[in-house]
Amino acid sequence: MRKFNFCAGPAALPEPVLLQAQQELLDWGGRGCSVMEVSHRSPEFTEVAETAEQDLRDLLAIPDNYKVLFLHGGATAQFSAVPWNLFGGPGRVADYIYTGQWAKKAIAEARRYGPVNVVASSEDRNFSYAPGPDSWQQSEDAAYFHYTPNETIGGVEFDYVPEVSCPLVADMSSNILSRPIPVEKFGMIYAGAQKNIGPSGIAVGIVRDDLLDRALDGIPRSLNWRVAADAGSMDNTPPTFAWYLSGLVFKWLKARGGVSAMELESRRKSAMLYDFIDGSDFYSSPVEPGSRSRMNVPFVLADDSLDGAFLEQSEAAGLLNLKGHRSVGGMRASLYNAVPMEAVEALVAFMADFEKRMG
Ligand SMILES: Cc1ncc(COP(=O)(O)O)c(C=O)c1O
Repeated sequence: MRKFNFCAGPAALPEPVLLQAQQELLDWGGRGCSVMEVSHRSPEFTEVAETAEQDLRDLLAIPDNYKVLFLHGGATAQFSAVPWNLFGGPGRVADYIYTGQWAKKAIAEARRYGPVNVVASSEDRNFSYAPGPDSWQQSEDAAYFHYTPNETIGGVEFDYVPEVSCPLVADMSSNILSRPIPVEKFGMIYAGAQKNIGPSGIAVGIVRDDLLDRALDGIPRSLNWRVAADAGSMDNTPPTFAWYLSGLVFKWLKARGGVSAMELESRRKSAMLYDFIDGSDFYSSPVEPGSRSRMNVPFVLADDSLDGAFLEQSEAAGLLNLKGHRSVGGMRASLYNAVPMEAVEALVAFMADFEKRMG
């Protein structure tokens, strides 16, 4: 029996997608083998790859002057790929916003390749908010500006797109495809797949054409976006199963009304949980209103000695993976696209009952 899964990633996948993959595992479309067992250069896989790209383009309304890349190494490889591809040479500075654990990793990686200016940080209030533009200290001529629209661990989400005069780069790993985005405002967007796209093992990159040719000398071939773009993301063998499954998720999303529908749904789901938390003296949210993520909802119990009982009982009630990240503690419910409203209803009912019994 499938249970409600609130894992931050790898996260719940849509049930119809899993069922289709299951059905096709031994005999994919009458070919007598699975999609994992054919050449990535075969016409049948080429069709999978091209259809997935087109569906993603449709979902996010990606303009023609952007390449869509399917990449190895997760979002972490892109922490390195961004500076390698965009610093453009010595003497340039990269601007970064520091909003939590993932921004921290991205900044640390960029510093290996060139100077980083931390434009703004929310460390002063324990990464509980997205710093507004009035506090930013931008460089005059930055090579690029990087931010993390949704901090998966802290549960902080930007509710606006920064306006900057250099290429804007976003790590959208945990909120891509959860609402429409003005792609034309970005130079580069990347996202590890294992939250709103598909299984782990693949990442999506969306790169504006004019940014493909400023890589630093010595860039590893596997991180070079120009190489990936020219080879249709097949310079070497791509993670074909993850690509195929991501394609099924894109079809599922389209059938459900696309990213506008996902935005509405994510607002309804997260509002239900935040409203419940705010109405209770037993649970609280460490994130400031206005910066609260629709995708990842961390919350703490008034008495943390009850954390163990909460996790044990929630799991027994069929609510999986509610433990907060080890660096923050408490709980975290991730409400990605594949997590249905019924999961949030069940979670809230459980939380109310737990409070009544234990609070
Ligand atoms: C916002 C964000 N960036 C980067 C990563 C790292 O992704 P990966 O494990 O695919 O390298 C994660 C993983 O959870 C994430 O949530």
